[in-house]
Amino acid sequence: MTENKQKNNSDQNWVFIVVQDKSWNQISKFQASKDISLAAQSNQNHCEVPIACGSGACMVCACKVISWMEFVDAEKFWKQLIQPWEDYILSCVAGVYDKYFDEDWYYEIIIQKMI
Ligand code: FES
Repeated sequence: MTENKQKNNSDQNWVFIVVQDKSWNQISKFQASKDISLAAQSNQNHCEVPIACGSGACMVCACKVISWMEFVDAEKFWKQLIQPWEDYILSCVAGVYDKYFDEDWYYEIIIQKMI
């Protein structure tokens, strides 16, 4: 696996989200936000992650977390009403733990779209 953690020498938030498609191609990379779900962030950054229920109940937004799962709060914005597979999140309700925005390291959280 590529090292996706580096020392951050600036005052900026250096938590980034990388989105891959099902074929492992990187289709987007953007600076993470602590205030909205991973699906909403992706959509704001022109990387479509489909959302149907928007409440953790249908799996349409399911994404696999390829790296830094420990950074992802699977229920940051709402409870998961159904349990996704291991290493997957329901991106409409998941977000990045706030504490990681204060770290002095550059991180890339890699998620993979299923649709
Ligand atoms: S859109 Fe239904 S679980 Fe996320």
